[in-house]
Amino acid sequence: MTSTNLIPLEELITSDLEDLIRKARPQFEELAGKRLWLTGGAGFLGYYLVLSIAHWNKAASPQKRIRLTVLDNYIRGVPTWLESMKGAEISLVKHDVTHPIPASIGEADYIIHAASIASPMYYRKFPLETIDANVNGLRYMLDYAAGRNRKAAGSFKGMLFFSTSEIYGDPSADAIPTPETYRGLVSCTGPRACYDESKRLGETLCVIYAQTRDVPVSIARPFNNYGPGLKITDGRVLPDFARDALAGRDIVMLSDGSPTRTFCYITDALSGYLRVLVNGRRGEPYNIGIETPEISMRELAERVQKVAGELWGYQGRVIHQPSKEQAYLTDNPNRRCPIIEKARQEIGYAPEVDAEAGIRRMLNWYYFNREGELA
Ligand SMILES: NC(=O)c1ccc[n+]([C@@H]2O[C@H](COP(=O)([O-])OP(=O)(O)OC[C@H]3O[C@@H](n4cnc5c(N)ncnc54)[C@H](O)[C@@H]3O)[C@@H](O)[C@H]2O)c1
Repeated sequence: MTSTNLIPLEELITSDLEDLIRKARPQFEELAGKRLWLTGGAGFLGYYLVLSIAHWNKAASPQKRIRLTVLDNYIRGVPTWLESMKGAEISLVKHDVTHPIPASIGEADYIIHAASIASPMYYRKFPLETIDANVNGLRYMLDYAAGRNRKAAGSFKGMLFFSTSEIYGDPSADAIPTPETYRGLVSCTGPRACYDESKRLGETLCVIYAQTRDVPVSIARPFNNYGPGLKITDGRVLPDFARDALAGRDIVMLSDGSPTRTFCYITDALSGYLRVLVNGRRGEPYNIGIETPEISMRELAERVQKVAGELWGYQGRVIHQPSKEQAYLTDNPNRRCPIIEKARQEIGYAPEVDAEAGIRRMLNWYYFNREGELA
């Protein structure tokens, strides 16, 4: 293996965090000095979000530091990176969001509700837990925000609910690329329904709380994010391909390679989510992703193959093998591609990392974060 083309890990992460803070500086400024709860912060999106807040805090005066509380049930363990973030402004609370919020955690000015199982492989195993986090867990957060507002109007500043592009289901051909106004083509009984339908009901709850309880809550619909922080064992397509390439074996496609997706790098995506949190209209959903390129799974596998070849001399092939899991492709949308005009126009969202550069950064990160996880 050659590693001459690899960027050292710390350099890679620091440049990403600085890029994110540059892209979302007004939003970091707004959060400065405020108390933020982040549910599900031990997961993929939590990784760069928590790290970027710690990075911001390092350079900020004490009054401008963001006071973050991460709430997570650590369903897959406490990550070491998160443990190392604990300090004066960042606290960790082990908490299952489907239970009442512990009074001991104090108050929040902003809430990001990201707690939910997100990987199809896992939500098919834990369907009820997935529904509970997106419906009951969300309600505890919305009730908290409504209660704060009842006590002192305007004291609660904003909330972000992580929905998903899966709420569109398998869109009809004329609805791709997909705008927020598309209502979806979704199965309510299929193997993905626990996720798709609980996110849909979650959005309904947000709209009701915005309209009837004056809660400033906005909704993000993420379209396939990728990048550092996504566990290599997660079961999503890019980590699966990366795992094969790092183990030196052939890259296995579990579909025939024809389904397409657009992939949005994590720093772009997070800059969008922070905009939805701080600047989004209440009760409104925003697609957060990237419009191009729309890549087939075969092209994606070939890109991973090429970049891994350049980074560490990988020489495997791309092959197709059906998944051992029967439901793997059931209701799997053939195409997924967003229209992001609403986020561009209303909140100034502008993704800019191209797929080749993003995949290179992600593989580079995996190269240093793969211990014991390649089986
Ligand atoms: N990453 C993407 O591309 C993507 C796409 C669409 C939607 N989303 C949504 O964004 C959010 C974050 O996604 P992610 O990729 O970081 O997922 P992830 O699986 O990496 O992390 C989710 C975190 O939530 C925690 N969690 C799950 N149930 C919980 C509960 N009951 N109480 C407390 N914590 C709980 C898990 O322990 C985990 O740390 C999720 O709501 C997901 O549905 C992500």
